[in-house]
Amino acid sequence: MKLASLDDLFLHELRDLYSAERQLTRALPKMAKAANSPKLKQAFEDHLKETEGQVERLEQIFDLLGKSSRGPACKAMEGLVEEGSELIKEDAAADVKDAALIGAAQRVEHYEIAGYGTARTYAEMLGHAEAARLLEETLAEEKTADDKLTDLAMSGINQRAEHAAAD
Ligand SMILES: [Fe+2]
Repeated sequence: MKLASLDDLFLHELRDLYSAERQLTRALPKMAKAANSPKLKQAFEDHLKETEGQVERLEQIFDLLGKSSRGPACKAMEGLVEEGSELIKEDAAADVKDAALIGAAQRVEHYEIAGYGTARTYAEMLGHAEAARLLEETLAEEKTADDKLTDLAMSGINQRAEHAAAD
C-alpha cells in the first residue's frame, strides 16, 4: 500500500509541491518576459527568487526526513503553466495581457497556498516541528505574493485593461 499512513501522505504532498515549485522556476521567467507593466515584471522576478528559496526549503525538509524528493510530476501545475503559456502566446492588448497574467499567477498562488497549508498541518500533527516551521515560512510568502498581485491588479492594471479597447 503506497499511502498507508499520514506520514506517506505528507511525503506525497511534499513531492507534489517540490515538482510544482520546480516547474514554476521555469515558468516565471517567461511570465516576467511577457508582462508589459514594469511593476508586474518586477513582481514575477521577485517571486522567482522567492520560489528558488522555496525549492531549497523543501530540499531541507527532505534532508530532515531522510527521504528522496523524487516523485511524479505535479499535474495541476503542469495544467496551470500550460494555460499560462497559452495566454502568453495570445494576441492581446498589452494591458489586457497583464490583467490575464495576474489572474493566471493568482491561480498558481492559490494552488500553492492550499498545498502548503495542508502540508504544514500534517507536519505539525506528525511532530515534524522544523518542517512545519519551514512550510509555514513558504506559506506566508505565497500569501504575500498573492496579496501583491491583488494590489497590482487593483492599483491600475485592471483599470487600464478595462479601457484598453477604447484607446
Ligand atoms: Fe511557491
